[in-house]
Amino acid sequence: MENFTNTKVRQNQAILETWTSKLNIRDYYINYGSPTWIVSKKQLTHNVEQFARFTESKGNILFPVKTNPSLVLLEVLAQMGVGADCANRQEIDLALFAGIPYERIAYNCPVQEVCLSTNLLKQGAIVVMDDPAAILKVQDRLKGRSFPGQLWIRVNPGVEIRYEQTNDNQELMSHAATSSKFGIPAEDILPFVKNLKMPVTGLHVHVGTQMDNLTSFRNSMEAMHELARAMKGVGHEVVHLDVGGGLGIPFTEEDEFPSLDYWVSEMSEMKEENFRYYVEPGHALCGNTVALLTKVETIKHSRNKRWLVTDVGTDQLAKVTLLRWPHRILNPDGQPLPKGGNDAIAGPLCFAGDILLDKIDAGNLQVDDPILITHAGAYTFSLSNRFNGRLGPSWVLIDENGHEKRMNKEGRYDNPNLTNYFWDLRQEKPAVETISKERIEKLSSIYLTKLAEEDKFEYLQMERTGERSFAIDVMTESRVSFISMPFAIRIFGDAVIVTLLHMMNSEKKELPIWGRKLNLDCFGQVKTGVPVRIRVSFSNPVKELNGTNTIVARFETECWDCSGNFLLKF
Ligand SMILES: Cc1ncc(COP(=O)(O)O)c(C=O)c1O
Repeated sequence: MENFTNTKVRQNQAILETWTSKLNIRDYYINYGSPTWIVSKKQLTHNVEQFARFTESKGNILFPVKTNPSLVLLEVLAQMGVGADCANRQEIDLALFAGIPYERIAYNCPVQEVCLSTNLLKQGAIVVMDDPAAILKVQDRLKGRSFPGQLWIRVNPGVEIRYEQTNDNQELMSHAATSSKFGIPAEDILPFVKNLKMPVTGLHVHVGTQMDNLTSFRNSMEAMHELARAMKGVGHEVVHLDVGGGLGIPFTEEDEFPSLDYWVSEMSEMKEENFRYYVEPGHALCGNTVALLTKVETIKHSRNKRWLVTDVGTDQLAKVTLLRWPHRILNPDGQPLPKGGNDAIAGPLCFAGDILLDKIDAGNLQVDDPILITHAGAYTFSLSNRFNGRLGPSWVLIDENGHEKRMNKEGRYDNPNLTNYFWDLRQEKPAVETISKERIEKLSSIYLTKLAEEDKFEYLQMERTGERSFAIDVMTESRVSFISMPFAIRIFGDAVIVTLLHMMNSEKKELPIWGRKLNLDCFGQVKTGVPVRIRVSFSNPVKELNGTNTIVARFETECWDCSGNFLLKF
């Protein structure tokens, strides 16, 4: 059994990432503001390549979308050929639109939707199940027909799952413990699958989260080998073994975890021929690839303590504050804030536990100084909340060439609690008042009822700027001096259709394309009568079971005065 306090194993200990110490934190603050998520593609690629040494294929790495459902990460992973572990339809949609095909998507959650599971098997996806009743219902729905997907069983191996360094949270994290709700107990699997007509082709164990030694991984891998051999004996050719996620990562210098390199080497030694191996690393794949830029909003003195209050806290970093897993924080010069002082970095929320780092020496940090919270990639954004009305940060990706791509901050009106609400329902009664034709005429807009018909626009030029993005210049003409919302829908609607047809190599406008959903923001006025540059970009198209395709188009005028997205079917 490893003990990471012993010096021999220390060599195999994970160390903190170094990419953030090379960032010019002040420049990022000036260019992108605060708070901002910063993602390192280089670190992400490195982690993927390490895990691929074990799986022998990037496609056998199934990234748990729950860890970080940002499209900034998902698109990079999709382009590398990585797959996704998804817990529901929303996570599956994110993976598909990012470009991860069904064959590399695994659906696995404690409540398995029978209809979704059946459809996914028909689409060629992996469905990981641990509910015998649900498995039998899926079997009924498939009516003995073969399917291109794969059914795997999640196993509760009944082996020792233990942490070296115990802390209060471990019972929340030991997913494969004998007492947990996950997985069919190993001893119940053979009797169950003996009578199952659907083929089971894989087994899955997820030991738990932030595992600090290899014992649990080894024990569960052995248990899977044994069970897979026994299942062959009852007619199930199990060839896929998914060892789940769970490898822990350090957040501060004091935290001790096996290194990824060590995990890969040790686990690779246990592999047997005739099996294909899969992993689902969350923390270990993306935890050290993301940092959160924040700033000191104010400094308060209370008794002997200095409180440096930032513009982000439990809203994005619930795991840090609620589980008390403090993360390293760098000052504007990229140096870690030293321990042992009487200062604390706290978030801005109405919650006493909203503390990011306590008992440190904040040195001469001033109000408005940027600081960087490192190792913030796993279960941060995905657990983010709107407590105290906080809004989501913007996103920046640093790619191999140092280029950056951003996603805007969440806006004041992006909150679905506000925009999906149906107002005044309790007061609504049949015909409280009938509004006369004359009154309507007096109040209605001549522009919208009559003159809008005269609005015209002309394409000046259209350029393809990327595989799925376009820049378009249009000249507009209208009796009003700005692009109204209905006019904007026409311009963007047509530009989206033209570019989509062009991408599909259509010779003329003959394919039916339906706009199904529209979000439109017009917070600034875009003038008519002068050329306007608009940008359009597309997600990957997603094929539905009925043969139609769905795609998301994002559109923006140059200064984001007018922007939004369409969901289209074709
Ligand atoms: C099924 C499954 N796979 C993988 C993971 C990733 O775990 P980790 O982030 O500890 O690697 C989780 C997390 O809970 C999970 O539930």
